[in-house]
Amino acid sequence: MKGIILAGGIGSRLHPLTRVTNKHLLPVYDKPMIYYPMQVLVDAGIRDILIVTGGNSAGDFLKLLKNGNDFDLQQLNFAYQEGEGGIADALRLAEYFARGEKICVVLGDNIIESSIRGAKEVFERQLHGAKILLKEVPDPERFGVPTIENGKITRIDEKPKHPASSFAVIGIYFYDWTVFNRIRSLKRSARGEYEITDINNSYLRDHQLTYEILEGWWTDAGTFESLLQASSLVRAKTLEKSQQIANVRAA
Ligand code: G1P
Repeated sequence: MKGIILAGGIGSRLHPLTRVTNKHLLPVYDKPMIYYPMQVLVDAGIRDILIVTGGNSAGDFLKLLKNGNDFDLQQLNFAYQEGEGGIADALRLAEYFARGEKICVVLGDNIIESSIRGAKEVFERQLHGAKILLKEVPDPERFGVPTIENGKITRIDEKPKHPASSFAVIGIYFYDWTVFNRIRSLKRSARGEYEITDINNSYLRDHQLTYEILEGWWTDAGTFESLLQASSLVRAKTLEKSQQIANVRAA
């Protein structure tokens, strides 16, 4: 399975922080934001990674990550998104890289506590289609929101005014190779973008969408509040880990 990190966009919700740099280069506690999705993929055993970027400071990703040395990788791949077509438009650029393999797509501003290794292994055994991850949140109207009936997702709405459930579709998606044909048949949404939610609904219509509930905390980091929250959550996790290590050493 190949990994794709979407790290483009103009980060308008974070102006003026993002006026001269890319959102995914901003600090989240003690590391640049892009380090977290990188680690999620590597921890899941996905080592063939493409970063799709765009907007400001695109060249700084190369300068920062080089060949992926900080993640024990030998090589990293990059693509450049022109314009502001949205998430599904950025993913279009991964078709050549994917070469017909299954892919795991991570939005560069999504930060999680736990691992997706389990979900990845389940998706490896799924014959075709897609898998999404859900998390219960207090503010589902900010996200893609599933309607769930008798344990099955029946539709997904992007940022609904009146959410049908308290779940958010988080920004980590597993797709088979048909995703690129599905992107080609998308139309721009009301906000003028190609929406990842429309891709997920396309799989849903074909009865090829499975889901799992993510364990541990999840946050995006694309607004002032969530960026701050991401730093606090990562800090707490880091301190907890160092405490555990200290306890083991002392024992
Ligand atoms: C995007 C997706 C949304 C998803 C969210 C997760 O929203 O469109 O469906 O729930 O990422 O972070 P954005 O925050 O980019 O507008």
